[in-house]
Amino acid sequence: EWKMESFIDTTVAQIREQVGDKGVVLGLSGGVDSSVAAALISKAIGKQLTCVFVDQGLMRKDEGDFVEQTFTKLFDMNFVRINCQEEFLSKLKGVSDPEEKRKIIGTEFYNVFWNKIRESYGSGFFAQGTIYPDRIESGKGDAAKIKTHHNQVGVPKDIQFDDIIEPLKDLFKDEVRAVGEKLGLPHDLVWRQPFPGPGLGVRVIGEVTAEKVRILQEADAILRDEMAQCGYDKEMSQFFAVLPGVRTVGVMGDSRTYSELVAIRAVTTDDFMTADWAKIPYEILGRVSNRIINEVSHVNRVVYDITSKPPGTVEWE
Ligand code: XMP
Repeated sequence: EWKMESFIDTTVAQIREQVGDKGVVLGLSGGVDSSVAAALISKAIGKQLTCVFVDQGLMRKDEGDFVEQTFTKLFDMNFVRINCQEEFLSKLKGVSDPEEKRKIIGTEFYNVFWNKIRESYGSGFFAQGTIYPDRIESGKGDAAKIKTHHNQVGVPKDIQFDDIIEPLKDLFKDEVRAVGEKLGLPHDLVWRQPFPGPGLGVRVIGEVTAEKVRILQEADAILRDEMAQCGYDKEMSQFFAVLPGVRTVGVMGDSRTYSELVAIRAVTTDDFMTADWAKIPYEILGRVSNRIINEVSHVNRVVYDITSKPPGTVEWE
């Protein structure tokens, strides 16, 4: 407790000293690490901090708005949101290979983000929410990595910052969360589940379209709502809906339907290297299934993923 408080005081003083009257720019993803880094730097230098939030339109329902609300209402900073779902989806058109999709989303993110920085904020300091385990991970090479992750983005050669600020670089995740709580970040954000960089882009299996993203967002929001209502969300390490892109036959009233299948994924794990499928009570699964089918148009069937990791990964792509 006191340790985190003194960490905040010391780090705030250091940032002020290092930055002087210059600007700092930070890429905000809405994840725990970049959010805590943003809150901390905001406390140190207020409006000298600019946070750039690239909203790919691949986040969960209303999440982009929640991030914007949080950082514009609760913290003093320049907050820049770039809405670019259309751009991302046009790049993803016709693409169904998972690694290719990841690569496209990563490259597109890189381009959108750095073009914005280049045109408006390409001087002063650059900040990122690197934490201690990230530095260990990146030293390990790619052997442990099954999928391409692109969270840490390197600075392009033509942009020169005075220095890179990584105020959380010596902290573990639980310490980062403690700092976030102390700084007044919303509980939901501090305790946010892991969310893949490519977002719903890898939870819509196969080609990603605006309509599929919308269906998945609706289904996922219902799942989260039901899990929160029964308190079961706290028992899970991670849970979400997946849209496999499969249509199946069903019956509604007197007519035949041929609509989308939604899959529910929920796991418990300590480290995400291995994971167990979660034994969610049938009543909860039943409620989720009923609500999804009744409330989300174009969905007529829900299945539950009972695969542990290994052999399955947590995400489907
Ligand atoms: P897998 O699917 O590899 O996922 O078992 C393990 C954990 O990593 C998350 N994940 C990602 N996180 N960028 C991230 O930051 C990514 O590209 C990415 N892909 C998967 C996944 O949600 C799970 O928590």
